[in-house]
Amino acid sequence: MAKNINRRGFIQSGSTLTLASLLPAELLASIEDIPVSPFGFATTADEVAEGIDLTGQTVLITGCNSGLGYESMKTIAAHGAHVIGTARMMEKAVNACDSVGGKTTPLVCELTDFDSVVACADSVQAMDGPLDVVMCNAGIMALPELEQVNGIEKQFVVNHLGHFILTTRLLPQVEAAPEGRIVMVSSIGYKNAPKAGIEFDNLSWDRGYKPFTAYGQTKLANALFAFELARMYAGTSVSANAIHPGLVATNLGRYITGKPRDPNEPLRKGFKTADQGASTQVYVAIHPSLKGVSGYYFEDCNPVVPTGTHMSDATLAAQLWAVSQALTAPHLG
Ligand SMILES: NC(=O)c1ccc[n+]([C@@H]2O[C@H](COP(=O)([O-])OP(=O)(O)OC[C@H]3O[C@@H](n4cnc5c(N)ncnc54)[C@H](OP(=O)(O)O)[C@@H]3O)[C@@H](O)[C@H]2O)c1
Repeated sequence: MAKNINRRGFIQSGSTLTLASLLPAELLASIEDIPVSPFGFATTADEVAEGIDLTGQTVLITGCNSGLGYESMKTIAAHGAHVIGTARMMEKAVNACDSVGGKTTPLVCELTDFDSVVACADSVQAMDGPLDVVMCNAGIMALPELEQVNGIEKQFVVNHLGHFILTTRLLPQVEAAPEGRIVMVSSIGYKNAPKAGIEFDNLSWDRGYKPFTAYGQTKLANALFAFELARMYAGTSVSANAIHPGLVATNLGRYITGKPRDPNEPLRKGFKTADQGASTQVYVAIHPSLKGVSGYYFEDCNPVVPTGTHMSDATLAAQLWAVSQALTAPHLG
């Protein structure tokens, strides 16, 4: 709670201008309206969702079979939404969906395989209903050796390009929702992005591959994608935000430890449990207090001012959109 009181003080002391100055002009009007949430570092996804009835809503979550995606699906489905849970393989999606209560639909979405992403989007379109939330959650981190998919570094493909195809193909259904929300699960790792932000001339990473720098670039891309969507949809019912979940000992660390993580391992200092880690993305996805809030980066269930200049670089975001479009053109709708 102290953190939230501090944040309120931070806003009232005039730093709103700092926050505002990072955001596109058309969104400034809503800045004053962003509520300070009563939630913080230790809040769980279930606590965020308490008392919220999502009956009638449809929420798509990528990477539903593990870590933060699984926790998000569990909470959101428990509150009445129909959750479309995607995984790399049908068996994983089915097992995950079957293990949570509520209404769920398992789908395959292998983000390195753009035909699979298109097939996933086609299946969602065939459901022929509005999509209240697209939560782009799946991700990989810091592959120790350079791996590429069709000449592009694998983290950029999984974390950004696959989600770019999926989300853009689903936009008509998001637009059809009363209040469609796009949630990009970014990371504080955006701070490790290269000096240029996104090295468009080195998306293969043939030049000087560094695992965490490459990861940071993809997480910057996740946020810039959200902000570009927010700019495009300013003044409409569609919102897009980016979040950092906090540090959670999920399977994301598999390339560092070389083995699956034990969810019951003792919590290291500064780390969250998985249900705490899922709270920010669930908050941004479903909380009524964020109606119309778009183009922000959240940590611990509150918007924060990103570090550095890349996150507020509208030119970089527009360039990312154009390059992503060019790279995925045959798979866009
Ligand atoms: N955990 C943290 O500390 C932390 C911090 C900051 C940001 N994040 C972000 O949070 C998100 C969720 O990560 P997590 O911590 O929950 O990790 P996780 O437990 O490893 O979950 C990642 C999910 O992504 C899926 N995935 C991996 N490669 C894929 C591919 N090629 N196609 C489709 N899905 C794929 C995984 O499927 P499989 O299980 O089949 O591999 C899994 O479902 C990521 O975007 C990550 O960058 C996490």
